[in-house]
Amino acid sequence: MASHGNKSEEEAAISEAPNTPISTIVIIIAMQTEALPVVNRFQLTEDLDSVFPKGVPWVRYRGVYKDLNINLIWPGKDSTLGVDSVGTISASLVTYASIQALKPDLIINAGTAGGFKAKGAVVGDVFLAADCAFHDRRIPIPVFDMYGVGLRQAHSTPNLVKELNLKVGKLSTGDSLDMSPHDESSITANDATVKDMEGAAVAYVADLLKVPAIFVKAVTDIVDGEKPTAEEFLQNLAAVTAALDNTVTQVIDFINGKCLSEL
Ligand code: ADE
Repeated sequence: MASHGNKSEEEAAISEAPNTPISTIVIIIAMQTEALPVVNRFQLTEDLDSVFPKGVPWVRYRGVYKDLNINLIWPGKDSTLGVDSVGTISASLVTYASIQALKPDLIINAGTAGGFKAKGAVVGDVFLAADCAFHDRRIPIPVFDMYGVGLRQAHSTPNLVKELNLKVGKLSTGDSLDMSPHDESSITANDATVKDMEGAAVAYVADLLKVPAIFVKAVTDIVDGEKPTAEEFLQNLAAVTAALDNTVTQVIDFINGKCLSEL
């Protein structure tokens, strides 16, 4: 690891970030219902000459907005079952392939999430995640336990949080919509306010390839509430997607013309 003298890792990362405005962004969104409002808002068009391997369902929508090249990547529908390819495997794969093909300055992972009312979450809230970790990779062996949790920091965005008045909380990721008792204790250990199915996987790959990433998560259901999760999620999906679209639009407007260190 490079020596940063007396600077903290974060200060060093910021001072080493290029002092040029962000030019190319990749937005990763797992569900079509979440992605299409953003596609329409920025008048993005589907890239028919795909940068991805032949036959994969991954879809790239692209366009130019102000000074930004925007790429929205949706992992597409499972080719056998026809449902959105949600979860950490597809999220990791599209993040890797998008970084390799598009060399973005910044990744935005946007989507819906379950929220914990005990941590202040309400349906319709949009959170910016401070950090991401996994709650379903339990390996009770020293050091492997921390590898399983896979904690990664989001790119620091104090100005963005202040300007947009966003709620900030920790994000915990797993491959299930529901929450087993084992998941619950790991989520509590992760001190999470929101729970999703992609964030920590995107964070892992972004960190691996040294691309800064931020996480915008809109709450569709209250995990520690009374309603069954799947029912509450489906009931609120359309309305909450509109809130997500609004916040993603504000985030993109804020990013335009700024350097990473100004976020
Ligand atoms: N996305 C929306 N709600 C969720 C939940 N409760 N768990 C995981 N991902 C979600």
